[in-house]
Amino acid sequence: MLDELPLRSRTPAAWARSVLQDPVALLIDHAFLEKKAANNAMDMMTRWPGEWVQGWVETMTSVARDEAAHLAQVSKALARRGGRLARVHKNPYANALRALVRKGEAGEVVDRLLVSALIELRSCERFGVLAAEAEDEELRSFYRALFRSEMSHYQVFLKLARKIAGRPAAEARWAQMLEAEARILAEQPPGPRIHSGSGGQQRV
Ligand SMILES: [Fe+2]
Ligand SMILES: [Fe+2]
Repeated sequence: MLDELPLRSRTPAAWARSVLQDPVALLIDHAFLEKKAANNAMDMMTRWPGEWVQGWVETMTSVARDEAAHLAQVSKALARRGGRLARVHKNPYANALRALVRKGEAGEVVDRLLVSALIELRSCERFGVLAAEAEDEELRSFYRALFRSEMSHYQVFLKLARKIAGRPAAEARWAQMLEAEARILAEQPPGPRIHSGSGGQQRV
């Protein structure tokens, strides 16, 4: 199933084995991503309240609700391991992706949707690799559930981008974004984070 994701690089199992050596740090990073994803959906909801497509508010609030639920689950898993949320978090991967967003009108909303789709898609892949490698039963089933949830988010964002931009324009921009994502991910330093460099991404 991981092979079917349209990403331009694949994460090796060795990445998951390495980041799972520090589950608390990994969960702290992960919690921030869920929080950011919830904020991002609420931000898009506020910014374009139903101007582009029908059902915008419903879609964004439903994503935000899912992400808030994920955050609650991560924070529970973290607490069970004696960890707690840190106050600050750096995510150079997401920042580099957000820098791709064009400013103004349809280009901006489409790019915001595509960048959101990209982050969901890569997270989905990483949760899939983590689910396959985690020895802890709780983490394994958690990552498996997240794989499915982030997969549906990626599809929702991509569908909205296609609706707004039209299929050919959305596909062309999506192809550029997928290329950029593989490059940006490869530039990330290694470490116990969901979007860290693996040192061995395989280009496809
Ligand atoms: Fe999530
Ligand atoms: Fe998500």
